[in-house]
Amino acid sequence: VSKKRLCFGNWKLNKNPKEAKDFIQSFLSKVSDEDLRDFCIFPTDLLAHQFSGFEIPWGGQNSYSENSGAYTGESSPETLKFLGADYCLVGHSERRSFFNEDNELLNKKTKNIIEQGLKPVFCIGESLTEREEGHTKAILQSQLQEGLKGVPFEKVIIAYEPVWAIGTGKAATSEIVAEVHGWIKDLCGEAKTPLLYGGRVKPENAGELYEIEEVDGFLIGGASLKVESFLEIHNKMKEQ
Ligand code: 13P
Repeated sequence: VSKKRLCFGNWKLNKNPKEAKDFIQSFLSKVSDEDLRDFCIFPTDLLAHQFSGFEIPWGGQNSYSENSGAYTGESSPETLKFLGADYCLVGHSERRSFFNEDNELLNKKTKNIIEQGLKPVFCIGESLTEREEGHTKAILQSQLQEGLKGVPFEKVIIAYEPVWAIGTGKAATSEIVAEVHGWIKDLCGEAKTPLLYGGRVKPENAGELYEIEEVDGFLIGGASLKVESFLEIHNKMKEQ
């Protein structure tokens, strides 16, 4: 069985509705129907309506553990599903650090995402200090064990995004990615959980990273904002 070739773009808090619309039109004019299934874009919720009526898979960047109630400012996976989403990110390091989301909350969010019929893309990653102090695996293990408590590995996609490589000039080396991904695949056992790598993925390093057997694709920030670089990353995977 050939491995997956997932090309997932996390737009974060970028693009206004016009920019999103232009992106979608240009993207659809350049991508084949067959390739389209490899992609997913994660726009802000306020851009979700731009995706309706198009075939591009998309997902939420965040969603709450409840589907209704007095939770001002939150949004629900139930509504994302209603609007046509297929996926939802959970536990991105920016949510963990800027919005203090802990493993317990992320566990509830993950379960709710699954219950609403969406596929969670569960993000894990260590900080620079944690890596330098030799705690990488302990951190990743607790993120997985606590965050995915009671959640079968078959139900999720896991994205490994070392915090020190996100939005910085510092991509993880192939050795690091191969080691961590191999270790996560072992933890997942029989489950065929797709594993994405994220952190400064660009057309320049995508081919080399995708050569790693345990890399099923990428979660891309900056380079997903331009149609050309986003598609080029996918092409690098196809060339392998
Ligand atoms: P960059 O690709 O901009 O480093 O962002 C990675 C990321 O956080 C994707 O979720």
